[in-house]
Amino acid sequence: MLLKIVSCTTLCCLAAAALLIVLLFLLAVYIYAQYTLGICKSKNRMEGKTVIITGCTSGIGKETARDIAKRGARLIMACRNMETANKLKDELVKESGNNNIVVRKLDLSSLSSVREFAQQINREESRLDVLIHNAGTAEVFRKKITEDGLEMTMATNHYGPFLLTHLLIGLLKRSQPSRVIVVASELYRLARLNLNNVNPTTTLPGYLYYVSKYANIVFTLELARRLEGSLVTANCLHPGLMSTGIWKNVPPPLSWVLNFLLSTLCKTPEQGAQTTIHLAVADEVNEISGKYFMDCRECELSQGVKDPAKGKKFWELSETMVKLQPSDPKI
Ligand SMILES: NC(=O)c1ccc[n+]([C@@H]2O[C@H](COP(=O)([O-])OP(=O)(O)OC[C@H]3O[C@@H](n4cnc5c(N)ncnc54)[C@H](OP(=O)(O)O)[C@@H]3O)[C@@H](O)[C@H]2O)c1
Repeated sequence: MLLKIVSCTTLCCLAAAALLIVLLFLLAVYIYAQYTLGICKSKNRMEGKTVIITGCTSGIGKETARDIAKRGARLIMACRNMETANKLKDELVKESGNNNIVVRKLDLSSLSSVREFAQQINREESRLDVLIHNAGTAEVFRKKITEDGLEMTMATNHYGPFLLTHLLIGLLKRSQPSRVIVVASELYRLARLNLNNVNPTTTLPGYLYYVSKYANIVFTLELARRLEGSLVTANCLHPGLMSTGIWKNVPPPLSWVLNFLLSTLCKTPEQGAQTTIHLAVADEVNEISGKYFMDCRECELSQGVKDPAKGKKFWELSETMVKLQPSDPKI
């Protein structure tokens, strides 16, 4: 009996100690996140400049759009959900007093939608100062193939933005100095890019999100190399971790834990937008290209992702995957 009581007391103590350790760990994560938080300090206005933000109906893109609208730029909201985008546009116009905001239809998972969007932009716009590749999608288990035969996550997160950059490069060059910004993720570190299978239709989609973020970085670095000597810069970033729509396909109960941890310990979407905004407006990055940022500071990348031979090869393979035409601009 006594033994039972002792072991029960010991168990309770152990459980309390374990709980305390977990709480202390979570507190340390929270303090670290707050301490390292990078906030864009630039007060630059953007009147006369045109900015495209892809996927700005929610999360980080929405907060980026809110900030850019307040700075007075012509804001082109490139979204697939027109109803939500138009509602948000009205909200942003009201909030910022900036009437120069338009919504344009773009579904990055469809090569024809990317072409139609780019055609409209090239027809209607006289300049493009900042192109922000923000839109992203993540699946966990559900395998999806697009109408072009591409794996959905790679199509939306890499191939669509790759083609779009080609189709808008003329406008970016005519507007230089101009900037291309790619929202990547630190989660790239969990992935490898298999150049023997750049359309991985049978791989677990959850893993392909990491691969697509790896692809975002390889693409940005190669783009910067190809644009060297021009005044068009290309940089990528990790926004931090936060509770947004990107996790919506994580199944419960994992999603409950994830969303609880992300919303209590990590950044808000407004904080997550700061590095994108910094790269879009700050004078300090005027001449910086081919770099990776986090919390508004330049950060080191792993050796593998920086390999120029891999960048060149992946670029050429991507040209084939998006069916780049001889009449399309080459970068
Ligand atoms: N949240 C994080 O912790 C985190 C961390 C690292 C990196 N990121 C990156 O941050 C970026 C923004 O994501 P978020 O976290 O703000 O997630 P989010 O709230 O889900 O926003 C993603 C946006 O992309 C749009 N989108 C998805 N598929 C699209 C398509 N085929 N065509 C056009 N737009 C499409 C979504 O539009 P719909 O409303 O139509 O779906 C939405 O507006 C992504 O690139 C993501 O990989 C996020």
